[in-house]
Amino acid sequence: MKYVSEHSRPPTTRSEPMIVARTIAELRIHRRALPGTIGFVPTMGALHDGHTSLMQAVLESADHLVVSIFVNPTQFDRASDLESYPRDEEDDLRGCEAAGAEIVFIPPPQEMYPNGRDQRTKVFVDELTATMCGRTRPGHFDGVAMVVSKLFNIVEPDVAAFGQKDYQQLAVIQQMTNDLNFAVQILGVETGRNPDGLAISSRNRLLTPDGRRRARALSRGLIAAHSAFAAGERSGPVLQRIAAGAIVAASLRVDYAECVHPATLQLLDEIGDDGAVLAVAAFDEDVRLIDNVRLDRTLPEALLKPDRPDDI
Ligand code: PAF
Repeated sequence: MKYVSEHSRPPTTRSEPMIVARTIAELRIHRRALPGTIGFVPTMGALHDGHTSLMQAVLESADHLVVSIFVNPTQFDRASDLESYPRDEEDDLRGCEAAGAEIVFIPPPQEMYPNGRDQRTKVFVDELTATMCGRTRPGHFDGVAMVVSKLFNIVEPDVAAFGQKDYQQLAVIQQMTNDLNFAVQILGVETGRNPDGLAISSRNRLLTPDGRRRARALSRGLIAAHSAFAAGERSGPVLQRIAAGAIVAASLRVDYAECVHPATLQLLDEIGDDGAVLAVAAFDEDVRLIDNVRLDRTLPEALLKPDRPDDI
């Protein structure tokens, strides 16, 4: 697929070579030598244009860009998912360099978890994790909160960017940042999409050509639910069924379709003045995809006219 190794930011004119740090000690030495503010983009690698947008967003508010690449074992609930997660360090390093990163932190698992995954200290964000991926992937957000809090302490960024495709992750990290007083500003960056509306994700690389075509059903379901909301439908369960129906019709297995309050992420029976987020997760064979849309806002441009010549 074309988008995966496309890094659209033009090469920077920086003369210093990009630094690759593999230990925390190395990272700290190089990070502390950087004057000015630090923008940080934590990633699990397999970089794509969505990551490039995150990097561009932090560079608009910080002097330097630090990127981490770490496939965090503690956030995977299925061993097969961790094993099959796409990895391409060389391509990732090219992408980081093109985006203007000055330091890339690529720790091995034992550097981040010297005692294995069972650390004594846990980071658990309550309530926001009761629905959506928090419900269907037990422990997932404990792993995310743990690794992001470690990375914040290691990198000490001023600004960090996360994608809105992972709406719940963004909410959890914002809450954790507030509650634990991390001195970092969190940016939420709009979901990058392919021309047909499919949200850009590292996992799209794992789809077969047929699966890639079927995967459009996620955005199609969200668009259908958004239209129903615009026409006056306010029942959460009805809107969920509309989105799930489109996904099932494309032979994907729905993990969830949930209509939640945009701030508390609690399930909504009836959508009120605060509006709602409709979030979906589905499997095409073993590949798990997620997407979401704000029902009470206009559809993002990338979802308005998806080019879908071979709709199923
Ligand atoms: O969104 C991701 O890629 C990961 O969940 C993150 C934030 C890098 C933590 O491992």
